[in-house]
Amino acid sequence: MAWIFYSDGKLNLHKFYLHQQETLLAGLLRVGIKAQFECRQGYCGVCKVKYRALNAKTRLDYTLSPLVMLAEDELLPCCCRVQGALVIKTAITQADS
Ligand code: FES
Repeated sequence: MAWIFYSDGKLNLHKFYLHQQETLLAGLLRVGIKAQFECRQGYCGVCKVKYRALNAKTRLDYTLSPLVMLAEDELLPCCCRVQGALVIKTAITQADS
């Protein structure tokens, strides 16, 4: 369970709730965000986003081991589950905009 905050690139901050077993990509798609992805298995890197944990209790849990290089502030939404709260620093777009 997690709260995910993100910007639409127009200085608007949004949030949604990520379910316990849901990957971040599944959550992004569920709430209508045009998330970029291809393999959904952690090897292409297309879905990579920058993030910032909002507190010390925030945890990332990978369902598959990422096969792409990730900086400390990057994650792969396609195979990452989150506990706690985080901000996606990469601007993302709502599917209806
Ligand atoms: S979609 Fe390929 S690594 Fe996430």
